[in-house]
Amino acid sequence: MTTTYPSGVKRAEFEAELQRLEVVSRFPEMPANLFDEGPHLITTPNLPWGDDVREASIEAYRRFIHGETWITGGGAREMEAELIDWMGRLMGAANPAGFITAGGSESNMCAILTAKQLSGRKGGSVVFPDNGHYSLHKLCRMFDLDAVVVPAPDGHLDRVDPAAIEAAIREDTIAIIATAGTWAFGSVDPIAEIGEIAQRHGLYLHVDGAFGGYILPFLERGGYDASIPLWDFRVPGVHSISADLHKNGMAPPPAGSLTFRDADLLAAAKEICPPNGTMSGTRGAGPIAGAWAMAKLLGEEGYTAVSLQSMALRDELVVGAEAIEGVRVHPGSRINMTLIHSETLDLRPVAEELRVRGWMFAARAIPAPVGIVVVPMPHNFGRTEAFLNDLRDAMRLATPIETAVVELEKVSAYGF
Ligand SMILES: Cc1ncc(COP(=O)(O)O)c(C=O)c1O
Repeated sequence: MTTTYPSGVKRAEFEAELQRLEVVSRFPEMPANLFDEGPHLITTPNLPWGDDVREASIEAYRRFIHGETWITGGGAREMEAELIDWMGRLMGAANPAGFITAGGSESNMCAILTAKQLSGRKGGSVVFPDNGHYSLHKLCRMFDLDAVVVPAPDGHLDRVDPAAIEAAIREDTIAIIATAGTWAFGSVDPIAEIGEIAQRHGLYLHVDGAFGGYILPFLERGGYDASIPLWDFRVPGVHSISADLHKNGMAPPPAGSLTFRDADLLAAAKEICPPNGTMSGTRGAGPIAGAWAMAKLLGEEGYTAVSLQSMALRDELVVGAEAIEGVRVHPGSRINMTLIHSETLDLRPVAEELRVRGWMFAARAIPAPVGIVVVPMPHNFGRTEAFLNDLRDAMRLATPIETAVVELEKVSAYGF
């Protein structure tokens, strides 16, 4: 065995450095990671299949690690087609078509590039509610499109008024974007109503299901919440849906998907982004293989179990958090997205304290002054009570909200 590499670095030194970087990345602390992406591949012994699926996904990723989607892409392209077909049908399309992307941002970009291609326009505008993810603003800037952002009805950040969406449509509008599983409210936009509007105006409708796409179909099948509004291809006006495998699909990143209702739409995507429809040229086959293995082995039954497990954790958290004086969980979430905030107290010191105690989560300035975003997933099993205890304890640091003016430089330290 080599003990010294050609560069002069010793094997033991390299191993120590790799371990240090793992620790810096906080990999060993995964059960305390209440964020949405990345930690899915840790042990999940509480789930029926134990470690088998996780190991198989890692193995598939490893065996396809040399692969790209060109010369040696035959296998990856078959896996991609199988994944899109399976998921597209679960989302209500009879003949779905699409591709695997690097995640929600790329999927949203490819969808709107397709809408632009179909419109034949050089510029134009895109209408979406203000709960839309920042990747929507980003794509508008990248593609020289006006973002026409429709404000939420007063005091209801998780809601969308379809009449306001219709009123915002301009002569140069090329697409409407709605979200199923908003960041960070977890709400589902009124997509059936927006679909009718899109059809009436002959507009492309894209659904950003980056977060909700890999949980909503399974919650419906698992009977979790019969009142989830229709959001997928069963709504006739929907052209395309983003759904991230590296979020609720539990696959190793980067793995998103963009599914079109049919092959004609995929053909338009390929016209503007040849040869696959994706923004990137070479794509690694490893992530496609990892995601394919996950979907193939979990299937509908496995994903339903994962989704119900995530929601059980979320429900425990909601009940526990709402029992704490001054704490409120923002209403309107239909998925495992939980936004903890307060209408009377400034929770920024509480968020700081939770971070000091090792919890990983996102925090954002909306609703002001801070919303703590927690996304329970199966790897958090057994940690809810500990989180609630720390939250309860840290509440002694909360201060009354004295002014509605938020100190912006402090808020930006929380990201998003
Ligand atoms: C609703 C929504 N859309 C898009 C994205 C962007 O996804 P990605 O970071 O994988 O590009 C996210 C990420 O959290 C999201 O929540």
